[in-house]
Amino acid sequence: MSSGGEVVLRAVEAPLFWLGALTAAWLSVCSVCRLLSGIRVWVLGNGRLVSPARLGKWAVVTGATDGIGKAYAEELARRGFAIVLISRTQEKLDDVSKEISSKCGVETKTIAVDFSSVDIYSKIEGRTRRTGDWSFGQQRRNFLFVP
Ligand SMILES: NC(=O)c1ccc[n+]([C@@H]2O[C@H](COP(=O)([O-])OP(=O)(O)OC[C@H]3O[C@@H](n4cnc5c(N)ncnc54)[C@H](OP(=O)(O)O)[C@@H]3O)[C@@H](O)[C@H]2O)c1
Repeated sequence: MSSGGEVVLRAVEAPLFWLGALTAAWLSVCSVCRLLSGIRVWVLGNGRLVSPARLGKWAVVTGATDGIGKAYAEELARRGFAIVLISRTQEKLDDVSKEISSKCGVETKTIAVDFSSVDIYSKIEGRTRRTGDWSFGQQRRNFLFVP
């Protein structure tokens, strides 16, 4: 190699070394983070992080009669949560409520409200008051899933 080429190589050797070292370090940190995240979700979180014992008896799911909301309601019921199902159509809520309670043996409550209306919160509050055994105000350990 010509002496000019050697000079250039020597000049870039140290920067290239540090670029490679930093890239390798960054990829290692990312891999460890992904591994820890996987362990948290798939090992530690395997039914134990999201459970009624940790989060409270009731899970409230909006949009619960179709798609993502319904899937969450089913999975949360499978994990033992009692489910409050909220969406617009009472007939669909009744169907999903029956399906979930017969499949998973958990309590369910339904609230039919249209979130595009402005006066829904009094209806939700009224419905939760009537049920008597739970309310956001009184029992802090409930959680809400909004797809
Ligand atoms: N599917 C996807 O890949 C995807 C991806 C990213 C984000 N999202 C978003 O996630 C949400 C759910 O998606 P999805 O695919 O599961 O929808 P979906 O299958 O259409 O289900 C919608 C649910 O929301 C209820 N709902 C709709 N409008 C409502 C309203 N005004 N008030 C109260 N309840 C109402 C429906 O109940 P009724 O039928 O009884 O009204 C139904 O239970 C949407 O906002 C969507 O934009 C979806």
